Amino acid sequence: PAQAVAMGEECGRQDHQRWAEFYASKFYELHVRENMHSFHPDLPIQPIWGYDGIFPGPTFVAKYGEPVIVRIYNELPQNHVGYGSPEISTHLHNLHNASESDGFTGDYYSALKFGPTMSAPGKYKDHLYANCLAGYDEYHETHGDPREALGTLWYHDHRLDFTAPNVHRGLSGFYLLFDDIDSGNEYDTNPKALRLPSGVGKYDIPLVFHDKQFNAKGIMAFDSFNSDGILGDKFCINGKIQPYFEVERRKYRFRLLDGGPSRFYEFYLSYDGKDQSFTYIANDGNLLEAPLVMKKVRLSPAERADIVIDFAAFPIGAQVFLVNKLEQTSGRGPTGQILSGTQLLRFDVKANPPVDDASRVPDKLREQPPLPTADELKSMPKRVWEFDRGNGGWTVNGKLFNVKQVAAKPRLGTQELWILRGKGNWSHPIHIHFEEGRILSRNGKAPPIHERGRKDVYVIGPGEELRLVMKFRDYTGKYMMHCHNLTHEDHAMMVRWDIVT
Ligand code: C2O
Ligand code: CU
Repeated sequence: PAQAVAMGEECGRQDHQRWAEFYASKFYELHVRENMHSFHPDLPIQPIWGYDGIFPGPTFVAKYGEPVIVRIYNELPQNHVGYGSPEISTHLHNLHNASESDGFTGDYYSALKFGPTMSAPGKYKDHLYANCLAGYDEYHETHGDPREALGTLWYHDHRLDFTAPNVHRGLSGFYLLFDDIDSGNEYDTNPKALRLPSGVGKYDIPLVFHDKQFNAKGIMAFDSFNSDGILGDKFCINGKIQPYFEVERRKYRFRLLDGGPSRFYEFYLSYDGKDQSFTYIANDGNLLEAPLVMKKVRLSPAERADIVIDFAAFPIGAQVFLVNKLEQTSGRGPTGQILSGTQLLRFDVKANPPVDDASRVPDKLREQPPLPTADELKSMPKRVWEFDRGNGGWTVNGKLFNVKQVAAKPRLGTQELWILRGKGNWSHPIHIHFEEGRILSRNGKAPPIHERGRKDVYVIGPGEELRLVMKFRDYTGKYMMHCHNLTHEDHAMMVRWDIVT
């Protein structure tokens, strides 16, 4: 049952939270604190920052249309040594969210200090995750399928100027959204249910990738003076360096997330020295219209891909590797060269499954919302955004981020054409909060097939131009767009835009 949101020490209490008191079906607490962590048996156990003290943080399993409240306590050491900032603002990446709960970069807090867009310090902040559009019931009735982020979401810190070090210290985790179609149950008897491989932690496995550097003492290091991008030579998968995972001879769903800060990956599945096929079913936070059989998938920081691997194709005793073959030597982005690669994760095929594999990957997954018609496009307001280096940092339309400056004011209930342009020889994975967009064209051509789903991260390579359509359907308030190379973000490649009535 819903629990009332207490008055008192919390900050950022807003109108929609009153709504939550009546409708939220679940109430969670997260305690952000320092804790000891082991990356590898050969390295010393060392402090990390984690939601509930673990890295990655706890995985949420949520249902579309069922709002939850998450009360996030800041219990970080206020006198810490080294990089990062002990104030936090948690963003649930790709959730269609009211502004007050979105984790705006200036909404950071601790018991002592608060950000420029908050009104008071506080030990905790309540976030309402509505898990649907406002007015969901009405929309659902007229459209049938709810058309919103529904799949692999993730939460992470978004503290102004310190997102890269805070996330590097461990502040991120998964948030998975299910509905009647992607119900998370491969035995579901509802005829609408897809029955994809399921059971979070069993056959449905979220995997977050972080590259890190460790100093001579084996302690995680971060270079605060590097504004190009931070790369590491050790690869952590769910917080462990190049681990293994025992699997049964059956289908698994893996949700791959590039957790940054700055590295791009191109994943391959390798067995016996040969690249193997897998089935690509979702990009970012949504299932595709139809599954694609692929031999590789490329991800930029913050992008996600859900893939299904069928280990029935391999004998018991087989070792199958997930390999990154993409060369990257600096924060510029990938060179584009494909190397022999680094083995990131080893799957050990252990046994036949105890019961027959009931999961499927149907030919049709989820219908996509319609693209705008030519007429609609013609009459849409248009905005151009240029991403470049300058003024001692990273700029959008020639400007460094300013938390109080509103770069755009789209109107509630409208659609707009957004044109993203990359200048200079850099790649920028641009993330837009609030609504997912659809890529209309990449450099004047139709986007590649795996970018035709709904997106929230848009990679612009050197000199590239992307056209996307954005909708502003329900909430008003302040939102952001920024480069998700977290080092670029912290060096001001971000804009605030507000939805207005
Ligand atoms: Cu994943 Cu604005 O962030
Ligand atoms: Cu960038």
